[in-house]
Amino acid sequence: MKTQVAIVGAGPAGLLLGHLLKAEGIDCVVVERQQPDYILGRIRAGVLEQITVGLMSRLGLDARLKAEGLVEEGFNLADGERLIRIDVANLTGKTVVVYGQTEITKDLMDAAPSRGLQIIYGADDVALHDIESDTPSVSFTHDGTAHRLDARFIVGCDGFHGPSRKAIPQSAVREYERVYPFGWLGILADVPPCNHELIYANHERGFALASMRSHTRSRYYVDVPLTEKIEDWSDDRIWDELAVRLGPEAAANITRGPSIEKSIAPLRSYVFEPMRHGSLLLCGDSAHIVPPTGAKGLNLAASDVHYAAEALTAYFKHASNDAVEGYSTKALARVWKSERFSWSLTKLMHRFPDDGPFERAMQVAELDYIATSTAAQTSIAENYVGLPV
Ligand code: APR
Ligand code: PHB
Repeated sequence: MKTQVAIVGAGPAGLLLGHLLKAEGIDCVVVERQQPDYILGRIRAGVLEQITVGLMSRLGLDARLKAEGLVEEGFNLADGERLIRIDVANLTGKTVVVYGQTEITKDLMDAAPSRGLQIIYGADDVALHDIESDTPSVSFTHDGTAHRLDARFIVGCDGFHGPSRKAIPQSAVREYERVYPFGWLGILADVPPCNHELIYANHERGFALASMRSHTRSRYYVDVPLTEKIEDWSDDRIWDELAVRLGPEAAANITRGPSIEKSIAPLRSYVFEPMRHGSLLLCGDSAHIVPPTGAKGLNLAASDVHYAAEALTAYFKHASNDAVEGYSTKALARVWKSERFSWSLTKLMHRFPDDGPFERAMQVAELDYIATSTAAQTSIAENYVGLPV
Protein backbone atom coordinates (compact mmCIF):
# COMPACT_ATOMS: atom_id res chain seq x y z
CA MET A 1 0.00 0.00 0.00
CA LYS A 2 1.26 3.52 -0.73
CA THR A 3 0.04 7.00 0.24
CA GLN A 4 1.43 10.49 0.76
CA VAL A 5 0.66 10.74 4.49
CA ALA A 6 0.14 7.80 6.86
CA ILE A 7 -1.84 8.84 9.96
CA VAL A 8 -1.64 6.58 13.03
CA GLY A 9 -4.77 6.92 15.20
CA ALA A 10 -8.40 7.76 14.40
CA GLY A 11 -9.18 9.90 17.43
CA PRO A 12 -10.03 13.59 17.04
CA ALA A 13 -6.50 14.53 15.96
CA GLY A 14 -6.12 11.81 13.34
CA LEU A 15 -9.58 12.27 11.86
CA LEU A 16 -9.36 16.07 11.79
CA LEU A 17 -5.98 15.88 10.04
CA GLY A 18 -7.22 13.26 7.59
CA HIS A 19 -10.16 15.41 6.55
CA LEU A 20 -8.02 18.54 6.22
CA LEU A 21 -5.49 16.74 4.01
CA LYS A 22 -8.20 15.16 1.84
CA ALA A 23 -9.78 18.58 1.42
CA GLU A 24 -6.42 19.78 0.03
CA GLY A 25 -6.25 16.79 -2.33
CA ILE A 26 -3.43 15.19 -0.36
CA ASP A 27 -3.65 11.40 -0.24
CA CYS A 28 -3.69 9.90 3.26
CA VAL A 29 -4.65 6.70 5.07
CA VAL A 30 -5.61 6.48 8.76
CA VAL A 31 -4.51 3.31 10.60
CA GLU A 32 -6.45 2.69 13.83
CA ARG A 33 -6.12 -0.10 16.38
CA GLN A 34 -9.68 -0.03 17.75
CA GLN A 35 -13.14 -0.29 16.21
CA PRO A 36 -15.39 2.80 15.89
CA ASP A 37 -17.70 1.82 18.75
CA TYR A 38 -14.80 1.64 21.18
CA ILE A 39 -13.55 5.08 20.17
CA LEU A 40 -17.03 6.62 20.47
CA GLY A 41 -17.50 5.01 23.87
CA ARG A 42 -14.73 7.13 25.41
CA ILE A 43 -16.24 9.93 27.50
CA ARG A 44 -14.41 13.16 26.85
CA ALA A 45 -14.57 16.81 27.89
CA GLY A 46 -17.02 19.21 26.32
CA VAL A 47 -15.59 22.68 25.68
CA LEU A 48 -14.46 23.75 22.20
CA GLU A 49 -12.17 26.71 21.48
CA GLN A 50 -12.63 28.78 18.33
CA ILE A 51 -9.79 26.86 16.59
CA THR A 52 -11.73 23.59 16.83
CA VAL A 53 -15.05 25.16 15.85
CA GLY A 54 -13.30 26.95 12.98
CA LEU A 55 -11.73 23.80 11.55
CA MET A 56 -15.05 21.93 11.64
CA SER A 57 -16.68 24.91 9.91
CA ARG A 58 -13.90 25.06 7.29
CA LEU A 59 -14.52 21.37 6.56
CA GLY A 60 -18.27 21.94 6.33
CA LEU A 61 -18.76 19.37 9.10
CA ASP A 62 -20.25 21.69 11.71
CA ALA A 63 -23.99 21.24 11.03
CA ARG A 64 -24.65 19.28 14.23
CA LEU A 65 -22.19 21.42 16.17
CA LYS A 66 -24.10 24.56 15.14
CA ALA A 67 -27.45 22.91 15.86
CA GLU A 68 -26.60 21.30 19.21
CA GLY A 69 -23.56 23.16 20.55
CA LEU A 70 -24.17 25.60 23.41
CA VAL A 71 -22.40 28.94 22.88
CA GLU A 72 -21.00 30.10 26.22
CA GLU A 73 -20.11 33.73 26.82
CA GLY A 74 -18.50 33.21 30.20
CA PHE A 75 -17.66 30.79 32.98
CA ASN A 76 -17.37 31.00 36.76
CA LEU A 77 -14.84 30.45 39.52
CA ALA A 78 -16.36 29.65 42.91
CA ASP A 79 -14.20 30.15 46.01
CA GLY A 80 -16.62 29.03 48.70
CA GLU A 81 -17.70 32.61 49.32
CA ARG A 82 -18.77 33.94 45.92
CA LEU A 83 -19.09 33.22 42.23
CA ILE A 84 -16.49 35.10 40.15
CA ARG A 85 -17.83 35.33 36.60
CA ILE A 86 -15.26 35.62 33.82
CA ASP A 87 -17.09 37.53 31.08
CA VAL A 88 -15.23 35.91 28.20
CA ALA A 89 -17.31 37.45 25.42
CA ASN A 90 -16.86 41.05 26.57
CA LEU A 91 -13.23 40.62 27.60
CA THR A 92 -12.07 38.86 24.40
CA GLY A 93 -14.81 39.28 21.80
CA LYS A 94 -14.88 35.48 21.52
CA THR A 95 -16.92 32.61 22.96
CA VAL A 96 -16.49 28.88 23.53
CA VAL A 97 -18.92 26.16 22.48
CA VAL A 98 -20.00 23.35 24.80
CA TYR A 99 -20.30 20.21 22.66
CA GLY A 100 -19.16 16.73 23.64
CA GLN A 101 -15.71 16.14 22.16
CA THR A 102 -16.80 12.59 21.39
CA GLU A 103 -19.44 14.18 19.17
CA ILE A 104 -16.64 15.87 17.20
CA THR A 105 -15.08 12.44 16.67
CA LYS A 106 -18.47 11.04 15.58
CA ASP A 107 -19.05 13.87 13.10
CA LEU A 108 -15.56 13.33 11.62
CA MET A 109 -16.00 9.54 11.53
CA ASP A 110 -19.43 9.71 9.89
CA ALA A 111 -18.15 12.03 7.16
CA ALA A 112 -15.13 9.86 6.25
CA PRO A 113 -16.81 7.60 3.63
CA SER A 114 -18.41 10.47 1.69
CA ARG A 115 -15.14 12.43 1.78
CA GLY A 116 -13.07 9.45 0.62
CA LEU A 117 -11.04 9.37 3.85
CA GLN A 118 -9.69 5.80 4.17
CA ILE A 119 -9.64 4.57 7.77
CA ILE A 120 -8.36 1.07 8.53
CA TYR A 121 -9.89 -0.02 11.86
CA GLY A 122 -8.71 -3.08 13.77
CA ALA A 123 -5.04 -2.66 12.79
CA ASP A 124 -2.84 -4.68 15.11
CA ASP A 125 0.90 -4.56 15.80
CA VAL A 126 1.27 -1.11 14.28
CA ALA A 127 4.94 -0.16 13.94
CA LEU A 128 6.74 2.76 12.34
CA HIS A 129 9.82 2.29 10.15
CA ASP A 130 12.55 4.45 8.59
CA ILE A 131 11.21 7.71 10.02
CA GLU A 132 14.61 9.40 9.41
CA SER A 133 14.32 8.69 5.69
CA ASP A 134 12.12 10.15 2.94
CA THR A 135 10.52 6.73 2.58
CA PRO A 136 9.05 5.86 5.97
CA SER A 137 6.41 3.18 6.37
CA VAL A 138 3.84 1.83 8.82
CA SER A 139 3.50 -1.93 9.19
CA PHE A 140 0.45 -3.61 10.74
CA THR A 141 -1.64 -6.75 10.61
CA HIS A 142 -5.30 -6.67 9.67
CA ASP A 143 -7.57 -9.71 9.80
CA GLY A 144 -4.44 -11.81 10.20
CA THR A 145 -2.74 -10.42 7.09
CA ALA A 146 0.49 -8.42 7.32
CA HIS A 147 0.52 -5.03 5.54
CA ARG A 148 3.04 -2.26 4.91
CA LEU A 149 1.89 1.29 4.17
CA ASP A 150 4.60 3.33 2.42
CA ALA A 151 4.31 7.10 2.77
CA ARG A 152 6.31 10.32 2.45
CA PHE A 153 5.27 11.40 5.97
CA ILE A 154 3.84 9.67 9.03
CA VAL A 155 1.76 11.68 11.51
CA GLY A 156 1.41 10.09 14.95
CA CYS A 157 -2.07 10.86 16.28
CA ASP A 158 -2.09 7.75 18.45
CA GLY A 159 -2.60 9.33 21.85
CA PHE A 160 -0.58 8.99 25.03
CA HIS A 161 -0.21 5.22 24.80
CA GLY A 162 0.50 4.91 21.09
CA PRO A 163 3.79 3.84 19.42
CA SER A 164 4.62 6.96 17.42
CA ARG A 165 6.66 9.08 19.81
CA LYS A 166 8.52 5.95 20.93
CA ALA A 167 9.86 5.64 17.35
CA ILE A 168 11.96 8.79 17.93
CA PRO A 169 15.51 8.03 19.15
CA GLN A 170 15.84 8.73 22.88
CA SER A 171 18.93 10.83 22.17
CA ALA A 172 16.70 13.37 20.39
CA VAL A 173 14.00 13.42 23.08
CA ARG A 174 13.17 15.77 25.97
CA GLU A 175 10.21 14.91 28.24
CA TYR A 176 8.50 17.01 30.90
CA GLU A 177 5.90 15.61 33.31
CA ARG A 178 3.89 16.51 36.37
CA VAL A 179 1.53 13.85 37.83
CA TYR A 180 -1.11 15.37 40.13
CA PRO A 181 -1.88 13.88 43.58
CA PHE A 182 -5.59 13.51 42.86
CA GLY A 183 -7.98 12.33 40.17
CA TRP A 184 -11.28 13.65 38.81
CA LEU A 185 -14.40 11.63 39.51
CA GLY A 186 -16.84 12.45 36.70
CA ILE A 187 -20.58 11.78 36.53
CA LEU A 188 -22.80 12.08 33.44
CA ALA A 189 -26.58 12.31 34.02
CA ASP A 190 -29.65 13.20 32.01
CA VAL A 191 -30.63 16.11 34.23
CA PRO A 192 -30.64 19.84 33.43
CA PRO A 193 -27.43 21.71 34.34
CA CYS A 194 -27.42 23.65 37.63
CA ASN A 195 -26.10 26.73 35.83
CA HIS A 196 -26.14 27.89 32.20
CA GLU A 197 -22.36 28.41 32.36
CA LEU A 198 -19.56 26.25 33.76
CA ILE A 199 -18.60 26.60 37.41
CA TYR A 200 -15.10 25.62 38.62
CA ALA A 201 -15.12 25.50 42.44
CA ASN A 202 -12.33 25.50 45.03
CA HIS A 203 -14.00 24.49 48.31
CA GLU A 204 -12.33 23.44 51.56
CA ARG A 205 -13.52 19.89 50.81
CA GLY A 206 -11.97 20.03 47.36
CA PHE A 207 -12.50 20.85 43.69
CA ALA A 208 -15.79 20.57 41.81
CA LEU A 209 -16.82 21.38 38.25
CA ALA A 210 -20.37 21.85 36.97
CA SER A 211 -20.52 21.42 33.21
CA MET A 212 -23.03 20.16 30.68
CA ARG A 213 -23.56 18.46 27.31
CA SER A 214 -26.95 20.02 26.53
CA HIS A 215 -29.90 21.66 28.30
CA THR A 216 -30.93 18.20 29.47
CA ARG A 217 -27.62 16.42 30.07
CA SER A 218 -25.12 17.45 32.76
CA ARG A 219 -21.49 16.58 33.42
CA TYR A 220 -20.05 17.10 36.90
CA TYR A 221 -16.68 16.37 38.51
CA VAL A 222 -15.17 16.32 42.00
CA ASP A 223 -11.49 15.70 42.70
CA VAL A 224 -10.71 12.62 44.82
CA PRO A 225 -7.54 11.02 46.22
CA LEU A 226 -5.88 8.62 43.78
CA THR A 227 -6.67 5.77 46.17
CA GLU A 228 -10.42 6.18 45.67
CA LYS A 229 -12.43 3.49 43.85
CA ILE A 230 -15.51 4.44 41.79
CA GLU A 231 -17.45 1.55 43.35
CA ASP A 232 -17.22 3.40 46.69
CA TRP A 233 -19.03 6.42 45.22
CA SER A 234 -22.78 5.96 45.00
CA ASP A 235 -24.69 8.50 42.93
CA ASP A 236 -26.12 9.99 46.13
CA ARG A 237 -22.64 10.40 47.61
CA ILE A 238 -21.51 12.23 44.45
CA TRP A 239 -24.56 14.50 44.40
CA ASP A 240 -24.11 15.28 48.12
CA GLU A 241 -20.44 16.18 47.59
CA LEU A 242 -21.21 18.34 44.57
CA ALA A 243 -23.89 20.26 46.49
CA VAL A 244 -21.40 21.11 49.24
CA ARG A 245 -18.44 21.99 47.01
CA LEU A 246 -20.35 24.05 44.42
CA GLY A 247 -21.85 26.25 47.14
CA PRO A 248 -25.44 26.92 48.23
CA GLU A 249 -26.48 29.00 45.20
CA ALA A 250 -25.52 26.32 42.68
CA ALA A 251 -26.63 23.53 45.01
CA ALA A 252 -30.13 24.95 45.08
CA ASN A 253 -30.31 24.43 41.33
CA ILE A 254 -28.78 20.95 41.13
CA THR A 255 -31.19 18.36 39.71
CA ARG A 256 -30.21 14.90 40.85
CA GLY A 257 -30.64 11.79 38.75
CA PRO A 258 -29.14 8.38 37.99
CA SER A 259 -25.66 8.40 36.49
CA ILE A 260 -25.32 7.29 32.86
CA GLU A 261 -21.58 7.03 33.35
CA LYS A 262 -19.21 7.65 36.24
CA SER A 263 -15.45 7.11 36.42
CA ILE A 264 -12.24 8.37 38.00
CA ALA A 265 -9.43 9.67 35.75
CA PRO A 266 -5.90 10.67 36.81
CA LEU A 267 -4.47 14.11 36.00
CA ARG A 268 -1.15 14.71 34.34
CA SER A 269 0.80 17.46 32.59
CA TYR A 270 3.15 16.05 29.97
CA VAL A 271 5.12 17.41 27.03
CA PHE A 272 7.27 15.45 24.58
CA GLU A 273 9.79 17.29 22.45
CA PRO A 274 10.39 17.36 19.54
CA MET A 275 7.01 17.06 17.79
CA ARG A 276 8.82 16.26 14.53
CA HIS A 277 11.72 13.94 13.83
CA GLY A 278 12.64 13.32 10.19
CA SER A 279 9.46 12.30 8.34
CA LEU A 280 7.43 11.76 11.55
CA LEU A 281 5.19 14.52 12.96
CA LEU A 282 3.25 14.17 16.23
CA CYS A 283 -0.19 15.70 16.95
CA GLY A 284 -2.39 15.71 20.04
CA ASP A 285 -2.06 13.42 23.02
CA SER A 286 0.81 11.51 21.35
CA ALA A 287 2.96 14.55 22.22
CA HIS A 288 1.28 16.23 25.19
CA ILE A 289 -1.26 15.80 27.97
CA VAL A 290 -2.93 18.53 30.00
CA PRO A 291 -5.02 18.24 33.19
CA PRO A 292 -8.70 18.71 32.18
CA THR A 293 -8.96 22.02 34.10
CA GLY A 294 -9.63 24.36 31.19
CA ALA A 295 -10.54 21.58 28.70
CA LYS A 296 -7.45 22.13 26.52
CA GLY A 297 -6.83 18.52 25.38
CA LEU A 298 -8.85 18.36 22.18
CA ASN A 299 -8.29 22.04 21.41
CA LEU A 300 -4.51 21.63 21.58
CA ALA A 301 -4.82 18.65 19.23
CA ALA A 302 -6.77 20.92 16.88
CA SER A 303 -4.02 23.55 16.81
CA ASP A 304 -1.36 20.87 16.23
CA VAL A 305 -3.43 19.53 13.35
CA HIS A 306 -3.90 23.02 11.93
CA TYR A 307 -0.12 23.53 11.85
CA ALA A 308 0.56 20.01 10.52
CA ALA A 309 -2.00 20.37 7.72
CA GLU A 310 -0.51 23.75 6.77
CA ALA A 311 3.00 22.30 6.70
CA LEU A 312 2.10 19.21 4.68
CA THR A 313 0.05 21.27 2.23
CA ALA A 314 3.04 23.59 1.69
CA TYR A 315 5.22 20.54 1.07
CA PHE A 316 2.98 18.69 -1.38
CA LYS A 317 1.34 21.64 -3.16
CA HIS A 318 4.02 24.34 -3.04
CA ALA A 319 7.21 22.24 -2.85
CA SER A 320 8.22 24.08 0.32
CA ASN A 321 9.74 22.16 3.24
CA ASP A 322 10.07 25.19 5.53
CA ALA A 323 6.80 24.70 7.43
CA VAL A 324 7.52 20.98 7.94
CA GLU A 325 10.92 21.85 9.38
CA GLY A 326 9.34 24.58 11.54
CA TYR A 327 6.37 22.46 12.68
CA SER A 328 7.69 21.32 16.05
CA THR A 329 8.80 24.79 17.15
CA LYS A 330 5.50 26.36 16.06
CA ALA A 331 3.28 23.69 17.63
CA LEU A 332 5.24 23.57 20.89
CA ALA A 333 5.00 27.36 21.34
CA ARG A 334 1.21 27.03 21.68
CA VAL A 335 1.41 23.69 23.53
CA TRP A 336 3.51 25.19 26.31
CA LYS A 337 1.17 28.19 26.74
CA SER A 338 -1.81 25.83 27.09
CA GLU A 339 0.16 23.62 29.47
CA ARG A 340 0.88 26.68 31.60
CA PHE A 341 -2.76 27.77 31.69
CA SER A 342 -4.03 24.26 32.50
CA TRP A 343 -1.41 23.84 35.23
CA SER A 344 -2.05 27.29 36.74
CA LEU A 345 -5.87 26.84 36.80
CA THR A 346 -5.36 23.39 38.35
CA LYS A 347 -3.04 24.88 40.98
CA LEU A 348 -5.54 27.68 41.70
CA MET A 349 -8.67 25.55 41.97
CA HIS A 350 -7.49 22.39 43.79
CA ARG A 351 -6.36 21.74 47.39
CA PHE A 352 -3.05 19.88 47.12
CA PRO A 353 -2.36 17.39 49.95
CA ASP A 354 1.10 18.86 50.64
CA ASP A 355 -0.08 22.49 50.59
CA GLY A 356 0.16 24.41 53.87
CA PRO A 357 -1.42 27.64 55.09
CA PHE A 358 0.83 29.76 52.87
CA GLU A 359 -0.21 27.95 49.68
CA ARG A 360 -3.87 28.31 50.66
CA ALA A 361 -3.32 32.01 51.36
CA MET A 362 -1.87 32.34 47.85
CA GLN A 363 -5.03 30.78 46.37
CA VAL A 364 -7.26 33.12 48.36
CA ALA A 365 -5.19 36.15 47.31
CA GLU A 366 -5.17 35.12 43.63
CA LEU A 367 -8.93 34.54 43.57
CA ASP A 368 -9.46 37.89 45.29
CA TYR A 369 -7.18 39.57 42.73
CA ILE A 370 -9.10 37.93 39.85
CA ALA A 371 -12.41 39.02 41.38
CA THR A 372 -11.28 42.66 41.46
CA SER A 373 -9.06 43.00 38.35
CA THR A 374 -10.22 43.30 34.76
CA ALA A 375 -6.63 42.67 33.65
CA ALA A 376 -6.51 39.40 35.58
CA GLN A 377 -9.88 38.33 34.23
CA THR A 378 -8.83 39.22 30.68
CA SER A 379 -5.73 37.05 30.99
CA ILE A 380 -7.81 34.08 32.12
CA ALA A 381 -10.45 34.74 29.47
CA GLU A 382 -8.02 34.89 26.54
CA ASN A 383 -6.45 31.61 27.60
CA TYR A 384 -9.84 29.97 28.14
CA VAL A 385 -11.16 30.81 24.64
CA GLY A 386 -7.81 29.76 23.19
CA LEU A 387 -4.74 31.79 22.29
CA PRO A 388 -4.31 32.69 18.61
CA VAL A 389 -2.89 30.05 16.28
N1 APR B 1 -2.12 1.63 16.63
C1 APR B 1 -3.14 2.31 16.04
N2 APR B 1 -3.93 3.19 16.69
C2 APR B 1 -3.62 3.41 17.99
C3 APR B 1 -2.55 2.79 18.66
C4 APR B 1 -1.78 1.85 17.92
N3 APR B 1 -0.77 1.18 18.49
N4 APR B 1 -2.50 3.24 19.95
C5 APR B 1 -3.51 4.13 20.07
N5 APR B 1 -4.19 4.23 18.91
C6 APR B 1 -5.38 5.03 18.63
C7 APR B 1 -6.38 4.98 19.77
O1 APR B 1 -7.17 3.81 19.69
C8 APR B 1 -7.17 6.27 19.56
O2 APR B 1 -8.29 6.05 18.74
O3 APR B 1 -5.03 6.40 18.51
C9 APR B 1 -6.17 7.19 18.87
C10 APR B 1 -5.72 8.32 19.80
O4 APR B 1 -6.84 9.14 20.06
P1 APR B 1 -6.89 10.05 21.40
O5 APR B 1 -6.32 9.28 22.52
O6 APR B 1 -8.29 10.55 21.49
O7 APR B 1 -5.88 11.22 21.12
P2 APR B 1 -6.07 12.52 20.22
O8 APR B 1 -6.72 12.21 18.92
O9 APR B 1 -4.75 13.19 20.23
O10 APR B 1 -7.14 13.35 21.09
C11 APR B 1 -6.74 14.54 21.65
O11 APR B 1 -9.04 14.78 22.40
O12 APR B 1 -11.03 14.47 23.54
C12 APR B 1 -9.73 14.87 23.64
O13 APR B 1 -9.08 14.43 25.85
C13 APR B 1 -8.90 14.03 24.54
O14 APR B 1 -6.83 15.14 24.90
C14 APR B 1 -7.50 14.24 24.03
C15 APR B 1 -7.68 14.95 22.71
C1 PHB C 1 -16.64 18.66 30.50
O1 PHB C 1 -17.72 19.19 30.18
O2 PHB C 1 -16.48 17.41 30.49
C2 PHB C 1 -15.47 19.53 30.91
C3 PHB C 1 -15.60 20.91 30.82
C4 PHB C 1 -14.53 21.71 31.21
C5 PHB C 1 -13.36 21.12 31.68
C6 PHB C 1 -13.23 19.73 31.75
C7 PHB C 1 -14.30 18.93 31.37
O3 PHB C 1 -12.33 21.91 32.07
